[in-house]
Amino acid sequence: MAKTVLITGASSGIGRATALYFAEQGWNVAATMRDPLKADPALKHPQISLFPLDVTNGDSITQAISASLSRYKKIDVLLNNAGYALFGPIEAVDNQQIQEQFATNVFGLINVTQQILPAMRKAGEGLIINVSSIIGRMALPYASSYIATKFAVEGLSESMRYELEPFHIRVKIIEPGSINTEFGKGSMQTAVSDPYRVSLAKFLAIFTKRNSGGSRPEEVAKVIYRAANDPSNRLRYLAKPGPFFRLNRVLPDAAWRRLLVKAMVK
Ligand SMILES: NC(=O)c1ccc[n+]([C@@H]2O[C@H](COP(=O)([O-])OP(=O)(O)OC[C@H]3O[C@@H](n4cnc5c(N)ncnc54)[C@H](OP(=O)(O)O)[C@@H]3O)[C@@H](O)[C@H]2O)c1
Repeated sequence: MAKTVLITGASSGIGRATALYFAEQGWNVAATMRDPLKADPALKHPQISLFPLDVTNGDSITQAISASLSRYKKIDVLLNNAGYALFGPIEAVDNQQIQEQFATNVFGLINVTQQILPAMRKAGEGLIINVSSIIGRMALPYASSYIATKFAVEGLSESMRYELEPFHIRVKIIEPGSINTEFGKGSMQTAVSDPYRVSLAKFLAIFTKRNSGGSRPEEVAKVIYRAANDPSNRLRYLAKPGPFFRLNRVLPDAAWRRLLVKAMVK
């Protein structure tokens, strides 16, 4: 029998590519998004059903999970993918922007997970895959709010895996590098303030250039598919991390700082 994956944020980028890839491999896909009326026509696929789901709206989560279970009877894999980045120096981002960033990237992910767990426990198995980032494990400047959300996703995923193991529910984390999606374009938000303006502009120019020259979201979809089919308890899967991340892992802190500041700040 075909397995079923529920994906959040399937309207574009990694979520959309993953929905299509899983469908092509014969999976049932509950592709959820804030506005299914605006869905890419490519998602009109016999293996894919669209359901409205805004991760910041608890009722929409309840309805999407219930509709997916009615349609497919079981959800084998939850892919917590929805998210966006808030960039800017910590002094410039206001409280509401930070709260909204956490509401989507962290509390939304927690809410979807909490609502799907009873069905997974009842089924006696399940897999939760959370989309983090390479910057869930290393920090860049001017991204502290976004990075804080991804460090949070790493920590909560690692903690959850222990408490869910007795119920045969596994947890995995995907850590993409620079991927060419809407992420660095339409989805991104920035906060600016005068003392930081020049170096923030340099950082953003480099970041968006790296992003638009980044890997294709289909590459991440393949890593997610591999993780979904990996029966092991492996927690982390890098997806096209790029040389920057690899240098961060091997360089001593002082050398890494010099490199980062030269490359992206001064
Ligand atoms: N692209 C990268 O370089 C990169 C690298 C590392 C990690 N990531 C992570 O990958 C994930 C997907 O991002 P992407 O690169 O594919 O960017 P994207 O093309 O902007 O896709 C983001 C998706 O999240 C959805 N979303 C945003 N807020 C939502 C909400 N409140 N409820 C439901 N859906 C919501 C968007 O839906 P709408 O269409 O309705 O806005 C969109 O479908 C994110 O978690 C991001 O942090 C991306």
